[in-house]
Amino acid sequence: MTAQLNPRGDVAVLVPAAGSGTRLGPGAPKALRLLGGEPLLVHALRRICQAPSVAVVVVAAPPDEVAGVRALLAPVAPVTVVAGGAHRQASVAAALAAVPPDVPIVLVHDAARALVPPDLVESVASAVRAGADAVIPVLPVVDTIKEVGPDDAVRGTVDRAPLRAVQTPQGFRRQILAAAHAAAVDPLTDDAGLVEKQGVRVTCVPGSDHALKITRPFDLLLAEHLLATE
Ligand code: CTP
Ligand code: MG
Repeated sequence: MTAQLNPRGDVAVLVPAAGSGTRLGPGAPKALRLLGGEPLLVHALRRICQAPSVAVVVVAAPPDEVAGVRALLAPVAPVTVVAGGAHRQASVAAALAAVPPDVPIVLVHDAARALVPPDLVESVASAVRAGADAVIPVLPVVDTIKEVGPDDAVRGTVDRAPLRAVQTPQGFRRQILAAAHAAAVDPLTDDAGLVEKQGVRVTCVPGSDHALKITRPFDLLLAEHLLATE
């Protein structure tokens, strides 16, 4: 069944999905790899659409897969599909350019975080609506973290207490994200990093284990288990 978006919602979700998935090993682009028999991107999209604030979704697809991704997603939800870029930031910028002008809140969510709970999408959107300029979901870091030199010698142990692992969706007041992308010089791996460089305060909300990023083969196994047991 095709999901409906909320035409009165105030949120656009950008879904960077143009990566190749090198760390997952040989195969199709990562967003098109199967989890429980369906592409990661389809899982992510279904969950995004369940968040009631979402009015618009723009997917950045691998450039040579745009038509295929459009056909794949048309029965799932009404989305816009654009060609992604050479790195994640370029893909986000391409998707941002396709957001209709009247949408005040923009979230960016990795297709690779296919099992994102709709509640997490809504909680990030709500925090922006409540007044935050930029919002990221975070989890405490569980491992001891060490700084290591190129010679494999330990240089020191980092205090773990103030560290957080950062997930998506990351949420922004639309003009804040647009200005940060316009000013961007070097590509970063997340959008909050760009916004931080502009001196904007970034607020944390609790993340979710289910929003894990499927990066390596083990993550796919873990996601298969989560999907089968949720
Ligand atoms: N992404 C993108 N455009 C790129 C590179 C990455 O839209 N040129 C997207 C990926 O599709 C993914 C998200 O950014 O949904 C996070 O990137 P990552 O997990 O690194 O995915 P890949 O780049 O595909 O994986 P790898 O780095 O292992 O190649
Ligand atoms: Mg990558």
